[in-house]
Amino acid sequence: MKKITLIKGDGIGKEISQSVIDIFNAIKVPVEFEEKFAGLECFEKFGTALPQDTLDSIKRNKIALKGPTTTPIGGGHKSVNVTIRKSLELFANLRPSKTLPGINTRFGNVDIVVIRENIEDTYGAIEHMQTPDVAQTLRIITYQGSYMIHSFAFQYAIKNNRKKVTCVHKANIQKMSDGLFLKTFKEISQNYPYIKTEDIIVDNLCMQLVTNPERFDVLVLPNIFGDIVSDLCAGLVGGLGVAPSANIGRNIAVFEPVHGSAPDIAGKNIANPTAFILSSIMMLKYIGLDSYAKIIEQTLFNTLKNGIFTKDLQGNYSTSEFTQNIIKEINDLSKTTKLIDDCLISDNQLTKSMNEEIESINPPKNTPSNDWNIAGLDVFIEWNDIDNLPEIPKNYKKFELKMISNRGTKIYPPPIPEILMVNWYRCRYISTQPVNYQDVLEFLSVITEKNIKWMHIEVLRKYNDIEMFSKAQGED
Ligand code: NAI
Repeated sequence: MKKITLIKGDGIGKEISQSVIDIFNAIKVPVEFEEKFAGLECFEKFGTALPQDTLDSIKRNKIALKGPTTTPIGGGHKSVNVTIRKSLELFANLRPSKTLPGINTRFGNVDIVVIRENIEDTYGAIEHMQTPDVAQTLRIITYQGSYMIHSFAFQYAIKNNRKKVTCVHKANIQKMSDGLFLKTFKEISQNYPYIKTEDIIVDNLCMQLVTNPERFDVLVLPNIFGDIVSDLCAGLVGGLGVAPSANIGRNIAVFEPVHGSAPDIAGKNIANPTAFILSSIMMLKYIGLDSYAKIIEQTLFNTLKNGIFTKDLQGNYSTSEFTQNIIKEINDLSKTTKLIDDCLISDNQLTKSMNEEIESINPPKNTPSNDWNIAGLDVFIEWNDIDNLPEIPKNYKKFELKMISNRGTKIYPPPIPEILMVNWYRCRYISTQPVNYQDVLEFLSVITEKNIKWMHIEVLRKYNDIEMFSKAQGED
């Protein structure tokens, strides 16, 4: 009997978990749930939103089924999801959106799998208040992380008979971060000549998804775009109530609905359990219990085909009535001999062998940094006299001031545009001769002596004489 960690979570989590438990009991799925706690209620009870005991259970069992957990906005404890994904290195988030039987939507034939990088990007949550009025988030994209997710996307495509992988990015603006994501995609795609590839800018993708979604197959995206686009795709096939997901790492996986804890409908017995049931189906396929997965899938689809809908799909069935209908379908089915012949979804499954493929994804080691040289500095300073330019040196020994910007817009060299300014400036210095870290420290002590408050510096670097930083506006 396979042991599985079950986290019911917050809000509607208990109601939709009960649906899955009842359905699993009805067909005697050979798994044993080990219930563990996480989320806001857990935090209020035990002082931690993710007890070590819960993490240990997932690590031990290697598989978890997780309900939604509430994350306080703008403060409070860290997101349980993000912590689980990071602690267990669940680097791939898989979100299939497929037109479901019986559900009326604008488009009839959507079948998109969103593969979202799950660790990096703004989800590093590296954030700082630079001044009381200026907030900063660092967006981290790595070659190794991109290598992992793109390799996963192509291997998923092959295993599931998918024809095309589309890389989604914003490399026209974020030339370094999205540029690296896209460049790595192109590199990895060379290993998979039989899969069609394309890339698309994320805003264009959104427009095309709501006009012609049938043209997309597998999408691979950085974390934040994947988060947003997968909700959009969920909307194309009936909304968050029907959107499942899987978080996949090396030999470990956590399955959960895309939606959150839906506090607005919690405790009312009206939540749609479909997303959670579909997540549990993905889980059963992942652990090789395909026949059980197919029975649940078929009976769920029959229920939907028969117009049994919860409120979010304009129906009037409660969560428990909806569940009972699936169980009735299972009971009816079990009276016949033909159980699982015409399963509708067969290609959003991960098979056991996918795990072996993941094992084989090994990104190259870090590029040694011996050939890096310091090319300059971006110094971020606070300067309160907004009517006058900051009094910083234009030249200091090996450093020359090239540009100052405010809110990302160039204000030096003149002309100064008429923009709303804040007391936070970026000052770009380019080195006129080779410099080292001692030179950087000396420069910083000089501006410190001038009483200039600096929040951080970015050392600008060159690799084999190629600039590893974006040109500042006005430097072209
Ligand atoms: P949400 O997904 O909980 O709700 C958005 C809207 O969709 C609400 O109107 C809700 O009633 C509806 N909805 C969601 N799931 C539904 C279902 N199964 N059946 C019927 N209607 C459903 O998103 P929201 O309100 O932004 O977030 C609530 C909380 O959930 C927040 O604390 C958020 O951080 C957390 N959250 C947790 C996630 C997770 O644990 N994986 C994912 C997304 C949000």
